[in-house]
Amino acid sequence: MSADKPVLPEGFRYLPDYLDRAAQEALVEDIRAVVAEAPLYVPTMPRTGKPMSVRMTNCGPLGWVTDKERGYRYQATHPATGKPWPQMPERLAALWRDLADYPEPPEACLINFYDDTAKMGMHQDSDEADFSAPVLSISLGDSCLFRVGGTDRKDKAVSLKLASGDIVLLSGKSRLAYHGVTRTYPGTSTLLKNGGRINLTLRRVRSPPQ
Ligand code: SIN
Ligand code: FE2
Repeated sequence: MSADKPVLPEGFRYLPDYLDRAAQEALVEDIRAVVAEAPLYVPTMPRTGKPMSVRMTNCGPLGWVTDKERGYRYQATHPATGKPWPQMPERLAALWRDLADYPEPPEACLINFYDDTAKMGMHQDSDEADFSAPVLSISLGDSCLFRVGGTDRKDKAVSLKLASGDIVLLSGKSRLAYHGVTRTYPGTSTLLKNGGRINLTLRRVRSPPQ
């Protein structure tokens, strides 16, 4: 193994080119329909109210939201429209069934849209009740530089270029790994007419029924 080959955290799964072009296009159509009902909005950080650089929306019974007043949480309605999130597209539920190795369906799909300058700081996905379910993450559109480390913020992180159609899973020991997006690479994909990057993360929020 070459010395500079990145060592991915245990349990982290990297599935490059998992979705072919037709599957990517079909997902973009699904997401367009979701966004038409549940528009992208600018989330703000807890306490400081600082706007994030990505725009967000969700589909599924629950959606992840954040704002200055109430911080990170899941809720059943869109913060701007007050309406329930649109249904989870069947194509996303099917990817979860194929890859998540978890008996229950996903409850939330967070949709992040990155313009050419958007990024996301290192964080853990820890607002869910059941960490035995993975977070399944789909990249569409422009490539990005993704970083993933360990469960301590100070752990060494490795960088991975994620391209359109790639899927990664934070599962097992890497479920609570710190991760973030350093930058996108504008102009690296023709999937989205106006450029940019879409990231979809499927999550199980509550513990399964006993
Ligand atoms: C996230 O951690 O919510 C986004 C990850 C990504 O954009 O690839
Ligand atoms: Fe995340």
